[in-house]
Amino acid sequence: MQARGQVPVLFNPDLIAGKLLEWYDAHARRLPWRRLPGEPLQEPYRVWLSEVMLQQTTVAAVGPYFAKFMDRWPTVNDLAAADDADVMAAWAGLGYYARARNLLACARAVAAMGGVFPDSEPALRALPGLGDYTAAAVAAIAFGQRAVVVDANVERVVARLFAIEQPLPGARPAIRLATGQVTPETRAGDFAQAMMDLGATVCTARSPRCMLCPLRADCQGYAHGSPERLPVKAAKKAKPVRQGRAFWVERDGKVLLVQRPGRGMLGGMRALPDDGWSAKGDGAEGLPGEWRCGGVVRHSFTHFDLELQLMLCDAAEMDSLPAGEWWPVEGIEAAGLPTVFAKAARLAIAEKKG
Ligand code: ADE
Repeated sequence: MQARGQVPVLFNPDLIAGKLLEWYDAHARRLPWRRLPGEPLQEPYRVWLSEVMLQQTTVAAVGPYFAKFMDRWPTVNDLAAADDADVMAAWAGLGYYARARNLLACARAVAAMGGVFPDSEPALRALPGLGDYTAAAVAAIAFGQRAVVVDANVERVVARLFAIEQPLPGARPAIRLATGQVTPETRAGDFAQAMMDLGATVCTARSPRCMLCPLRADCQGYAHGSPERLPVKAAKKAKPVRQGRAFWVERDGKVLLVQRPGRGMLGGMRALPDDGWSAKGDGAEGLPGEWRCGGVVRHSFTHFDLELQLMLCDAAEMDSLPAGEWWPVEGIEAAGLPTVFAKAARLAIAEKKG
């Protein structure tokens, strides 16, 4: 066995893949979109849908969304035929709403190809919304093609396995190259998911459980000591804080909701009217009328934090309202509001009660 402090000299990629796959055969997580090792390959639609949902979102958060989508739209053709607004509302809460718009665009592109996903990595990469990661993941997991799949978990495992000291994001090409060196010719989909599971359950960010790791003897990060240091991350810039206002206009038990413009922040989603805050600036344009301040909602987006002041008004005082729909306050949870506005709605309802 590799003693701690001693750097491994022999590196055998097939041995590494073999050990990892053996571990996966015994420890693969049971996930709703996944076939277990040895079972036939999973349907491409399920693999694609789950991989799009899993980008930037945890396995635990994705579970109920995946079930809801499969129930409502069991095939790619069903999804392609769905109304945009229904899909956006069903996606609400998962965040990164451009993914939902691309999801629909991709479903429609695949439907136009007869409802069959292409089976090569380059052809998948050409579909709307499929980046390097998703194209490789679908090629490997759904079609059993050899593809190099690198997500954040894989990045961490590989940075440690090879003791890659260069900080992220600059280390990405080296990590990709190293991942390619250990990716086997067969079972590339199982291998990718094994890497992900290892990263999620053993080679965790803060306290890796090296004693349980099938790759411990091969791990240069472990041999050097303190593998938890890796991957090194470049210092993050402080996020700017933006200010905005959201307007709660209620009439006869209904609240005014608007649809946000198709492009830009939360594009195409239902929302409360607001004052035009964006990723680049604070809000400015208010709605005319007699307003009182409610509480403040705080929400963190990728590139900024938002402080959203809730404004409340009796609609009777309003002379000019934006175009929108009146939604029953009682059923607001079903409106499919993105999280920041769902928080504002909950706050407005709580304030009215008391
Ligand atoms: N994260 C992204 N894709 C995944 C998958 N197929 N299995 C587990 N975690 C994942």
